[in-house]
Amino acid sequence: MNLLNKTVLLTGASGGIGQALARELAQRGARLYLVGRNDKAMSLLKNTLQHPERHNTVLMQSYSDDEISGLADRLSQNGGLDILINNAGSSRFALFEQQSFDDIREQIRTNIEIPALLTRALLEIMNAPGIVLNIGSIFGEIGHPAWSVYSATKAATHRFSEALDRELQGSGISVLYAAPRATETSLNSIHVNALNKKLGNNTDSPVQVATRLVRLLETEQKRYRFGVMERLFVKINAWFPNVVDGALGKKLPVIQEFARKSLKGENK
Ligand SMILES: NC(=O)c1ccc[n+]([C@@H]2O[C@H](COP(=O)([O-])OP(=O)(O)OC[C@H]3O[C@@H](n4cnc5c(N)ncnc54)[C@H](OP(=O)(O)O)[C@@H]3O)[C@@H](O)[C@H]2O)c1
Repeated sequence: MNLLNKTVLLTGASGGIGQALARELAQRGARLYLVGRNDKAMSLLKNTLQHPERHNTVLMQSYSDDEISGLADRLSQNGGLDILINNAGSSRFALFEQQSFDDIREQIRTNIEIPALLTRALLEIMNAPGIVLNIGSIFGEIGHPAWSVYSATKAATHRFSEALDRELQGSGISVLYAAPRATETSLNSIHVNALNKKLGNNTDSPVQVATRLVRLLETEQKRYRFGVMERLFVKINAWFPNVVDGALGKKLPVIQEFARKSLKGENK
């Protein structure tokens, strides 16, 4: 899809990947609705984009039903929507026993409930051809210790995207799914960054991720996983999960050590 003059709604616009994506999309001439809970951060972002007057910020305090239907009405009165990007996400790096009920609920709500509700409401006012792009994670395809709830929600993102895309065949709306690997944003605490370094995990910059995501929109590639090694691990996990059980089992003591440090707030 050519992004020039397309109306794009981006959730989690204030975050690391969100900001980089907003810049890439604005450079290609898209008209953006930047959605998030932090009005100041979104206004600052909007003012740094090419042609700020073409873009809008939308404050969503809690993604309540009323806020979502109000957003759908606003878009409908302004020519509808061409692309919805469900990018907002929340992650808690912690052993399962360390996660509070609120931690669990917030990840489920942010990573799967809100994207599903938003998609349900906005599909009704989307123009065809149109695209829904859902941001998953490699951890949605490889269940990872200390990210059990996050992995579960991102696995749900994957299946939601796949099922809905199949359901919408012939409608002119495509549902794409992208699974980034570790990316240098504030989603990851210093403990997560230190763990990634210790385990030798590769990371991407938000700009690298955003550039690829824009390419996915332009080429309408249905699914994309970041990282050659990560793609290989996803395949091994699907075909020979015992091999991955063993590999992650060897890393478990290190993962547990960093999760405990994270819980105690230790910085070393
Ligand atoms: N960074 C990584 O390593 C990585 C790897 C794989 C996948 N991803 C995925 O990439 C997407 C973007 O993440 P990021 O790395 O850019 O993270 P980030 O910098 O922490 O940004 C996350 C965004 O999500 C929003 N958000 C967080 N909790 C929310 C909640 N409870 N309700 C509504 N909005 C909420 C935040 O908006 P507010 O300003 O409103 O708080 C923020 O804009 C997420 O879906 C994430 O799961 C990230």
